[in-house]
Amino acid sequence: MRDNYLEEYFTLLRFPSVSTDQKYADKVRDCANWISQKLEKIGLESKVVPTPGHPVVWARNKHRNGRPTVLIYGHYDVQPPDPLELWESPPFEPVLKDGYVFARGATDNKGQIFSHILGLQETIEKSGDLPVNVDLVIEGEEEVGSQNLGKFLTDNRQALKCDVVLVSDTGMVAPKTPTLSYGLRGVASLEVKVTAAKMDLHSGVFGGAVANPAAALARMLASLHDSNGHITVPGFYDDVEPLQDWERKAWKNLPLDPDKEMLDETKAPALFGEAGFTTLERIWARPTAEINGMGSGYQGPGTKTVLPSHAMAKLTFRLVPNQDGDKIVDLVKKHLQKNLPPGVIAEMVTGHSGPWYLTDPNSKFGKAAQRALKKAFNKDVALIREGGSIPIVSDFRNILGVETLLLGLALANCRAHSPNENFPLENLEAGIQMNKAVLQELAG
Ligand code: BES
Ligand code: MN
Repeated sequence: MRDNYLEEYFTLLRFPSVSTDQKYADKVRDCANWISQKLEKIGLESKVVPTPGHPVVWARNKHRNGRPTVLIYGHYDVQPPDPLELWESPPFEPVLKDGYVFARGATDNKGQIFSHILGLQETIEKSGDLPVNVDLVIEGEEEVGSQNLGKFLTDNRQALKCDVVLVSDTGMVAPKTPTLSYGLRGVASLEVKVTAAKMDLHSGVFGGAVANPAAALARMLASLHDSNGHITVPGFYDDVEPLQDWERKAWKNLPLDPDKEMLDETKAPALFGEAGFTTLERIWARPTAEINGMGSGYQGPGTKTVLPSHAMAKLTFRLVPNQDGDKIVDLVKKHLQKNLPPGVIAEMVTGHSGPWYLTDPNSKFGKAAQRALKKAFNKDVALIREGGSIPIVSDFRNILGVETLLLGLALANCRAHSPNENFPLENLEAGIQMNKAVLQELAG
């Protein structure tokens, strides 16, 4: 791999393009501009398209009739780096250690999308053009639900007409193991605030007489699951498509030991999830109800004898075929309201959401992707679903009418969204080869 690849990759990683926090908005835009300039330098036509949120980078080669058009999608925004104190090196000062690059976004998604860019660069340098028509759409709002990208697709539907979408923003089952994902979970979100008194109170004077919102919220949240990990919200599972036998069998034969790997990676004392399903089934094909954050009362050192005025929790639900996010959020709201203890009121605010995705890994394009992966990695391809979400993928189907090939390069221990996120240079290189092989294969 060339030296300047690493330099440029580091430059990309140095932009703190955190989409959820407005204080980074300028940096997000700088990142988009840098990518667009890089794409022009490799010989593509590129522009930065503003949206009501963060801009979209859109680049293309000269399209010619009679060859397929491939849309390559990725995102340059990243999750917040917090908690900062758990990073071994600062999140936006990339370092290379034992072949791994450490930085926020190293894998998700800057490393993966950059490997595509380098693949395009090498092909253009060698052949003067790409074997297919390419549109590159790299957005800045994936980590906040891609709220403005649907409109971008609709507005530019004609110009974005394509045959298939390529996305590298999913996982690899094991190092050096090519992986084609044919499913994603969806996500829906809800914030709950429970209030009793209008201000914090002396717990000696009021405790026992005025309700405690933290305790009330705890009861409500506890009512979401039973002790077997089943979700107890009435109707929650009604639309869940049961797992197919072939999937159950195929997943048992994948070259990985998920329980051991998860325990090693997380150091959790034990795994826990919905009874009756294996770990892979739980994360790839079953829905969940998660509490992502909770807050109430005094959190400083020592003690404070206080009755908090309110308590809040942030919830998300991972959805599977054929669940509908709006319907699920409605069911949960009703359930929480029904389980509201006396003496408090609840406010609930629906947040962003994105649908699940399921496609046929053995479609014409799926087969082409499998051939390309096999060529690039010289190894059999693992076919999997994913537990994570990429909200825009279902819009590629609904708005552009095309299917998406999910060709991930993320390793299980890449620490995406966590401190010390990393990406091995080996995967950056593999991504370059994969990009070339897939475009060649899709060209026919
Ligand atoms: N790259 C992930 C999606 C992903 C994660 C795919 C794990 C496969 C396995 C993506 O960048 C992401 O994190 N998406 C968010 C979307 C959400 C904020 C709407 C997610 O899944 O939490
Ligand atoms: Mn992510």
